[in-house]
Amino acid sequence: MTEVRIIEGENEGVMEALYAGGERFALAYLDPPFASQRDYETRSGEFAFSDKWVSLETFLGELEHRISLARDLLIDEGSLVLHLDCSAVHEAKLLCDKVFGRACFASEIVWRYRRWPAQCRNFQRMHDILLRYVRDPNVECRFNQLYEPLSLKTQGVFMQQKQKAKLSTGGDGKAHRVRSIRTAEPSLGAPLSDVWEIGVIAPSDPERTGYPTQKPEALLARLVDALTNPGDSVLDPYCGGGTMPAVCVKRDRGCVSIDSSPVAIRMANERLDPLLRQLGLFSGVTTK
Ligand SMILES: C[S@@+](CC[C@H](N)C(=O)[O-])C[C@H]1O[C@@H](n2cnc3c(N)ncnc32)[C@H](O)[C@@H]1O
Repeated sequence: MTEVRIIEGENEGVMEALYAGGERFALAYLDPPFASQRDYETRSGEFAFSDKWVSLETFLGELEHRISLARDLLIDEGSLVLHLDCSAVHEAKLLCDKVFGRACFASEIVWRYRRWPAQCRNFQRMHDILLRYVRDPNVECRFNQLYEPLSLKTQGVFMQQKQKAKLSTGGDGKAHRVRSIRTAEPSLGAPLSDVWEIGVIAPSDPERTGYPTQKPEALLARLVDALTNPGDSVLDPYCGGGTMPAVCVKRDRGCVSIDSSPVAIRMANERLDPLLRQLGLFSGVTTK
């Protein structure tokens, strides 16, 4: 049985203890504060956490240390995904290059969402960036191919059938694709690209917990499905309202989630307990 643990505490010390205890993970998902210079409250007005920093350098210094701790907790086939927005993602990319080495950079995923437009004389900001790094570029990383629906144009030509490239040898002796042909096999869709359009959680959605900055389960489910196998464990050092453990429980993955905010821990446990009960996995014990 895969285990889900929610731990209240500073993620720095907890990650050090996990390392000393020999625990290792197939995926580390880091969803830290974004350097937004504001405080966050729950829907009912309770203080949840602060994202105010003396300077961007302080924010980046703390983040670099935690990226480095999380990297050391990965198995050789593992990946780390760092979730930020344009407030600090460009500086953070350079930090990750330093911690992992540029050869470990694997993807920049754009999570595109739609929300109520802001009043501003600028293009609307409606995306986050998820940077993925692999632990060891010389090892085949966990990667399960996911698919998305074929474009309408492709569906018009190939319907829902698999295409095959027709190759011909050119003057240089190499095979070149001349055209695509339709096969009798049904298509699984197009291999998933790195631009993901997934809606934010609507206020009336039952998935909504009321914890601020909550991410949609559909977004994290893609990461878990693509980058881990059933039975693997995920490290989630910025647990928030418990989105990653909820996704892991539903997908037979283990998860260690950490948060320094008692409100986050309470809300994550409130979310997890009924899920664990439904699956007959509730032990009645909350790990602290
Ligand atoms: C962006 S939120 C995570 C949201 C979460 N992924 C979700 O879907 O609900 C960031 C969380 O990190 C926590 N946090 C920030 N710094 C931390 C630290 N050094 N150690 C542990 N938790 C921290 C905050 O309390 C906050 O709950």
